[in-house]
Amino acid sequence: MLQISNNFLLKKFNTFNIEVTAKYFAAPQSVDELKFLLNKKEFLKVPKLIIGSGSNMLFTKDINALVIHPEIKGIELIDENYEHVIVKVAAGEVWDNFVAWSVRKGYSGVENLSLIPGRVGAAPVQNIGAYGVELKDVLYKTDALDIELLEHKTFTNQECEFAYRNSIFKNKFKGKYIITYVYFKLSKKHSFQLNYGNLKSELQKIGQINLQTVRDAVINMRRSKLPEPDELPNAGSFFKNPVVNDEKFKQLITRFPDIVYYPADNNKYKIAAAWLIDYCGLKGYRIGNVGVHKNQALVLVNYGNASGNDILNLALYIRQKVFNTFGINLEFEVNVW
Ligand code: EPU
Repeated sequence: MLQISNNFLLKKFNTFNIEVTAKYFAAPQSVDELKFLLNKKEFLKVPKLIIGSGSNMLFTKDINALVIHPEIKGIELIDENYEHVIVKVAAGEVWDNFVAWSVRKGYSGVENLSLIPGRVGAAPVQNIGAYGVELKDVLYKTDALDIELLEHKTFTNQECEFAYRNSIFKNKFKGKYIITYVYFKLSKKHSFQLNYGNLKSELQKIGQINLQTVRDAVINMRRSKLPEPDELPNAGSFFKNPVVNDEKFKQLITRFPDIVYYPADNNKYKIAAAWLIDYCGLKGYRIGNVGVHKNQALVLVNYGNASGNDILNLALYIRQKVFNTFGINLEFEVNVW
């Protein structure tokens, strides 16, 4: 029986551990329960907010909405040939449990995405990525439920309109659909993506290259830089890496020859936002209960009892400093509510 709670404390449902409440909260365990919830008369006109683990959210006030936390579970092999498998994964599965499952089964494609916090249903929304791989590289299709019409729709990879930390679910269809299942195309023949950062040298320390050691290397690298939300509440990268045009890039590289960048499509350049923040002297900066992490300047942390506004104010301060120094406006990666 689906339980619906009132004035529900969301502290455990956001990795910044902000203490706000949801006016209504429910965690449906099946698509039928989800439909039952959305069909209830009293909720028809109430705004809805879907959260997985809340690992990419910043709450700045109580949520005057129905917060839905999908708990639909299941990982199922639905098709295979000699080269590939198609795996259907329910939105409520913990992302890294799915990665661990794939590695155990010998299917490659998601090993570089090891240890990313969050649930499977959130992965297509922001096209999660790490160490040279993005969700768009492995997503076959995704099923979603229209929140108002209660109709099912399947989106192909192309229809998701993926871009860097972006998709149709953050733009045209923001708030319109709930992802119910994600289908992955994984490979039985392993080809590894090892070109990002220190991944190769981390693997050399381990010795062999296979699915499990790539996963281990990624986990080691993440653990050495990124704080575990359970130990030091945070939401991963707070800002996106900005993309600048050729002209702006030339100005930047002339004034800041050490700037860290990666060539992007269409003659553009992606700049490491962490480097910009670091250059402003803000790495390890702390004000009251909030701060910039000491090992990764893109990560903002809650040292305990911070409010969402404390974190937001720090983010705005960083954005101003970076703008004053480089003339670049950092975009939030985290969703602010
Ligand atoms: N750097 C600094 N100072 C720092 C940290 C990094 O100068 O404090 C420089 C270094 O030169 C480093 C470069 O910035 O080589 C890039 O740093 P890193 O490899 O840590 O990656 P990132 O661009 O900061 C992105 C993703 C992360 C993902 C890593 C690894 C975004 C917004 N972030 O960070 O994703 O784990 O690459 O692939 O694209 C997340 O989205 O929440 C997230 C953690």
